[in-house]
Amino acid sequence: MKRYYVTTFGCQMNAHDSERIKGMLESLGLGEATSPESADVLVYNTCTIREKPDTRLAAYLGNAAAWKRERPDLVIAVGGCYAEAQREALFERYPFVDVAFGPGSIPHLAEWIGAGGVGVARGRFGSHDSFAAELPARRERRFQAWVQVSMGCNSACAYCIVPAVRGREQSRRPGEIVAEVSALAAQGVKEITLLGQNVNSWGRDLAPAVRTDFGELLRACDAVEGIERIRFTSPHPKDFREPVIAAIAECAAVCEHVHLPLQSGSSRILKRMRRTYDRDRYLALVERLRDAVPDLALGTDIIVGFPGESDEDFLATLEVVELVRFESAFTFIYSPRAGTEAAAMADQVPEHVKHERLEALVEVVQRIARERNEERIGRVEEVLVEGVSRTDPGRLRGRTRRNTTVNFVGTARPGDLVDVVVEAASSTTLSGREAALAVV
Ligand code: SAH
Ligand code: SF4
Ligand code: F3S
Repeated sequence: MKRYYVTTFGCQMNAHDSERIKGMLESLGLGEATSPESADVLVYNTCTIREKPDTRLAAYLGNAAAWKRERPDLVIAVGGCYAEAQREALFERYPFVDVAFGPGSIPHLAEWIGAGGVGVARGRFGSHDSFAAELPARRERRFQAWVQVSMGCNSACAYCIVPAVRGREQSRRPGEIVAEVSALAAQGVKEITLLGQNVNSWGRDLAPAVRTDFGELLRACDAVEGIERIRFTSPHPKDFREPVIAAIAECAAVCEHVHLPLQSGSSRILKRMRRTYDRDRYLALVERLRDAVPDLALGTDIIVGFPGESDEDFLATLEVVELVRFESAFTFIYSPRAGTEAAAMADQVPEHVKHERLEALVEVVQRIARERNEERIGRVEEVLVEGVSRTDPGRLRGRTRRNTTVNFVGTARPGDLVDVVVEAASSTTLSGREAALAVV
């Protein structure tokens, strides 16, 4: 039997797509290798959101090239966003790559790899003609699953490469999504995460006969027996309309956690980023969400050093972070991406300034995250058990509905939903013990 090994970079959508790539390769009769060194087919599912993943990929492909010199029949396939951004140039830069394909043409990979993992072809890019979700999945987690609701993005954020590599937004039909969620529930899945580049604009491009909105989709998923937790990522602040907020508030399974990318706290920079909201609209949305969903946890994405960002603009970002008090935040240094609007802007911020700002931001973000987590001490949180703690094999690990990782003492098993008493907190995790074991 030929063996494959898939290496995944990037966001949750890529994690989802990799499960489909694996499922498809297995349907062709390939088995999974335990390491890339022992594989006959190597697949790299790439990301190109910032320069860093590009550089990491170069190192991975360096290793692959060396293995191929020893074993010329090794098949090297590069998929995902970097492949789509580079197109034919990928073969010039990495001539040992056999197959390359964009995120919209994953199903075609089967034609190229062929039954048994032989047969090699050049790439297919930019077709965006099929949902990876329609392929069989080899899921990595038993009780949690990704569910793709759309592909592509119609926004035009000035810094972002995603619209160029993932194409225009296309929504999956609601019937197909709900059927998949029901099938997952029947397999024992308890938590689903609905995925889209702009998940809450889902549905607007559907044919009039089936057109609905993201709020309706949340309600339909909530109605599926066995699904205890529903998450979704990433929503765009501009598309948070009332029916979506009402659905989050009213659906028992929809978790009290929203990832709400801020990007910048300066209205001037938000405008240059083409985010289509300003500071006040963002803050008003936070208030509406918190009014509707008591105990809501908020996460965010923030970019520092966008072209033209002054010290004042950066201070405005720090101010919004202090005002909102996010439970968690992913912080990024602006990275120019070829072909995007911002990459061509004249007033790029010097590297050392970007780094200083990131450092200052991380300090504030971590302090607030720790304070937010410390507020949970003494409370009982419902935890979905995922496995053994990564730091202490004597303890279990899981997540709260508010999406915080908890390491705890207990006897529960993976897939169980248990109440945990929180005893301590750091900026990223909580720890505690199962409520049933707590001393009263
Ligand atoms: N579709 C999702 C995810 C986009 S990528 C969304 O819109 O939320 C995830 C994050 O990477 C973005 O939210 C942004 O904060 C960051 N990002 C995107 N392009 C970037 C760039 N060129 N440089 C630095 N960070 C970037
Ligand atoms: Fe990129 Fe903006 Fe689309 Fe998100 S909404 S994928 S940041 S263009
Ligand atoms: Fe990266 Fe593509 Fe996701 S660029 S962040 S893998 S959409």
